Amino acid sequence: MHTTSDTEALKRAAAERAAEWIRDGMTLGLGTGSTVRHLLDVIAEHRAAGQWSGVVGVPTSEDTTQRARRLGIPLATLDERPRIDLTIDGADEVDPELRLIKGLGAALLREKIVAAASRELVIVADDTKVVDRLGTRAPLPVEVDPFGAAVQPDFLRSLGADPVLRVRDGRPVVTDGGNLIYDCRFPAGIADPEALEISLALRAGVVETGLFLGMATAVVIAGSGGVQVREREGAR
Ligand code: 5RP
Repeated sequence: MHTTSDTEALKRAAAERAAEWIRDGMTLGLGTGSTVRHLLDVIAEHRAAGQWSGVVGVPTSEDTTQRARRLGIPLATLDERPRIDLTIDGADEVDPELRLIKGLGAALLREKIVAAASRELVIVADDTKVVDRLGTRAPLPVEVDPFGAAVQPDFLRSLGADPVLRVRDGRPVVTDGGNLIYDCRFPAGIADPEALEISLALRAGVVETGLFLGMATAVVIAGSGGVQVREREGAR
């Protein structure tokens, strides 16, 4: 286990390493979460030092939009910049094949849309996110349309999940897209992520899942022994 200050230092280290992918003039997808906040700081520091004046960020959440604005990072929407050179984002789990679970920060829908529009997706994480099998550490977030959301738990249970509606301060969490999230625990983890993704994608009312399969081109993992980079074979 790391202490909180260790963890923040590891997130910062991962963000600094991933920032080495950034080149001036890039359209840069900006993920969401506490690790990405370090990345935003790193970008702002480079800009303050006179670098990356031509970098334009495409944020994946209202939270990232506000933070990036406060730091003076130029932003565009995905409609304005539909081709993204590189996205840097966090993750809740990373498996040996660089498959991911994302969405504990509730931004999975926009994160996946931006990732799918990106030439490269670099993930930044501390080593507590590394798992042998997806679904063993984090629940899988499944974003659903609020219309008739009560029909979804039985369906999710039929897939082996134990779904819990995400609630904060006694109220259902509503995503930036106006949807709800069921956090799905799988008692033995997710045996076949690709098959699960297909079953979920075919279900009416399921808007998106936190499974990011075959999307990450590289993963930057920071641990007490240093920063490790894993790249997906054939990704470049
Ligand atoms: C938000 C996400 C985040 O990238 C993920 O939850 C990791 O966040 P953090 O860096 O705070 O651990 O998917 O929807």
